Amino acid sequence: MISYRRCGRSGLLLPDVSLGLWHNFGDVDDPKAARDMIVRAFEAGITHFDLANNYGPPAGSAESNFGKIFHENLAAHRDEIILSTKAGHTMWAGPYGEWGSRKHLLASLDQSLARMRVPYVDIFYSHRPDPDTPLEETMSALATAVQSGRALYVGLSKYPLPMLREAVEILRSMGVRTLIYQPPYSILNRWPEAEGIHAWLEENGIGSIVFSPLAQGMLTPKYVDGIPEGSRAARSEGFLQESQVMAQQEKIRALQHIANDLGMPLHYLALRWALQQQGVTSAIIGARTVAQLDDNLAALNVPNLSAETLQAIDAIAPALHKEHAEA
Ligand SMILES: NC(=O)c1ccc[n+]([C@@H]2O[C@H](COP(=O)([O-])OP(=O)(O)OC[C@H]3O[C@@H](n4cnc5c(N)ncnc54)[C@H](OP(=O)(O)O)[C@@H]3O)[C@@H](O)[C@H]2O)c1
Repeated sequence: MISYRRCGRSGLLLPDVSLGLWHNFGDVDDPKAARDMIVRAFEAGITHFDLANNYGPPAGSAESNFGKIFHENLAAHRDEIILSTKAGHTMWAGPYGEWGSRKHLLASLDQSLARMRVPYVDIFYSHRPDPDTPLEETMSALATAVQSGRALYVGLSKYPLPMLREAVEILRSMGVRTLIYQPPYSILNRWPEAEGIHAWLEENGIGSIVFSPLAQGMLTPKYVDGIPEGSRAARSEGFLQESQVMAQQEKIRALQHIANDLGMPLHYLALRWALQQQGVTSAIIGARTVAQLDDNLAALNVPNLSAETLQAIDAIAPALHKEHAEA
């Protein structure tokens, strides 16, 4: 069952599991499955949907499809829903279609609002750090998003700790609090923990919403014996490469043994582990079918993992700094 956790020292509660629309909600995907997953998620208490300008494919289509599904099914519940979007990755051609300029961020946000046909989003993120744009400029765009009423809160995704600290301080000087940080985080990818990001976020009252807690499906039983048809690693538009799966195979099998000993599927172990870690407010999962979504909701009934199990997991997949993290 979904429960709600306070996002850092803010007034906002987020569901412990949020639904992300990176894969499986584009124009190439099954529209009925997309609709059914969004409606099912909301009915089950998942009040938070995570999008970005470039989700699809084609880029933008996940937002258009979400907008259609939202208006046909959930519009009456807008005040019960947290809607997030992002800008920063490549979205359109030319010099203004990506990165962290005011030009890109605010134009992209307006496009996202138009695609979803909503007047505001709840959370607007800088999707990735931009090494070439002054942080003041990127943060000023986030501040404008809030001050102009296009977003209620702001977030930062994938910023390394020194840049994150500086960005949070700049936003504070502009009168805007950073609500949330969004890193990748799973048993197979623990760099935010290794680099002290989660501890710093907790100290500073900023929530952390971790993405790909199932390592894009690697932390489910499906890849234990290879690459099954229809899986993300088998699909041409999927971001998971066969080589990534192969590089993790040994760890996946070892983790599967732990899950077997506990009498639970590997993804139950992975999701419970992520939700049990310091500083984690919510885990953004992906799903391809309603059955997968329901299965992940069932994982929430699993009790916290024991210290002994956590140690066994650490021995297989320790927290490594970013340059050593493989997944
Ligand atoms: N800020 C960023 O830069 C960033 C980057 C990446 C993601 N994100 C966010 O995080 C969200 C989640 O990412 P993700 O999709 O990689 O998360 P994930 O939960 O780690 O992986 C989801 C995939 O795992 C498989 N799966 C899920 N539940 C399953 C089950 N019960 N049984 C078997 N397989 C299952 C499915 O893949 P198959 O298709 O193989 O079945 C599914 O598409 C994204 O949608 C996005 O909102 C943000």
